[in-house]
Amino acid sequence: MADQTTFRGIMGNYPTGVTVVTANTPEEEPVGLTVNSFTSVSMDPMLISWSIDKNVSTHDVFASQEHFNVHVLAEDQGDLCMLFATKGTDRFSKIEWANSQYNAPIINGYTGLLECKVFKTVDAGDHTMIIGEVIGADNNETAPLLYHQRNFGRIPQEFYK
Ligand SMILES: Cc1cc2nc3c(=O)[nH]c(=O)nc-3n(C[C@H](O)[C@H](O)[C@H](O)COP(=O)(O)O)c2cc1C
Repeated sequence: MADQTTFRGIMGNYPTGVTVVTANTPEEEPVGLTVNSFTSVSMDPMLISWSIDKNVSTHDVFASQEHFNVHVLAEDQGDLCMLFATKGTDRFSKIEWANSQYNAPIINGYTGLLECKVFKTVDAGDHTMIIGEVIGADNNETAPLLYHQRNFGRIPQEFYK
């Protein structure tokens, strides 16, 4: 027997990094949200996936656009993580960003950036899983932000001299 409380508890006890995923609407408005369902899928071709809740206001934009960017957050980007998880705020007016060559917003300060082209979308319960092919990448190799049980964490300093 599996119940949702146990499932939620086990998943909350699974530590992750944090990403912010961005795209443009057909009207060229930037949209984005905080995501920790991000994971690597394939090396050849280079594929990643993440899942978006069907209740997120920009779900239909992400489920239908062609390009998106995944920003792997650096350890000092906890505020950005919270900004992009807070409803009812104009997220992009509060940060520095610019459009990429593929016309998707790039936010500065990341430790890693993956520019993606949609490979496949999969209807998955109350979420849509989006699989992206990596067509551009930038690695700043700085320490990442960690997330566990609704708290932020850091990689011990000795790993990032
Ligand atoms: C650490 C963290 C990870 C999150 N991961 C996801 C995720 O993987 N998928 C998702 O749909 N929402 C995720 N969320 C929640 C969304 O960021 C949030 O529901 C969304 O920004 C709401 O956008 P809206 O105001 O446009 O509806 C996460 C939130 C936090 C704080």
